[in-house]
Amino acid sequence: MAVERTLSIIKPDATERNLTGKINTLFEDAGLRIVAQKRIHLSPAQAGKFYEVHAERPFFGELTEFMARSPVVVQVLEGEGAVAKNREVMGATNPAEADEGTVRKSFAQSIGENSVHGSDSAENAAIEIAFFFSGLELVG
Ligand code: CMP
Repeated sequence: MAVERTLSIIKPDATERNLTGKINTLFEDAGLRIVAQKRIHLSPAQAGKFYEVHAERPFFGELTEFMARSPVVVQVLEGEGAVAKNREVMGATNPAEADEGTVRKSFAQSIGENSVHGSDSAENAAIEIAFFFSGLELVG
């Protein structure tokens, strides 16, 4: 399987509870390497731009307000089949449906406050990585 990169965000509900290290351990234990990482505080407008594909969804306002509530940790994870592997480690979007041992089963509070975001395809990963990082910041 090819080595890929994917964009991950540790969301405000997780940074507020000081869970960055515990979540990173789950990524690293699954064989994902953190090749870029920074802690930033998004504005509601920046969060809206990142999630613009969801602009027509009823939860869009709630989502952008939440993502701007506290700092987030944005990161690039690298590994074989990293997009799918990260989605496995994260678990289902709704924590009530997530498998044991996944980030969302362990830490998420609700479908909205679900602790992590991960790219859903290699194509979107490239777009999402470029949204937050320059090439110089990616250190494999
Ligand atoms: P994420 O993987 O970051 O992609 C879009 C986000 O929208 C998703 O995780 C959830 O946090 C959020 N989301 C999806 N469905 C709902 C919902 N029904 N209510 C509130 N937030 C949602």
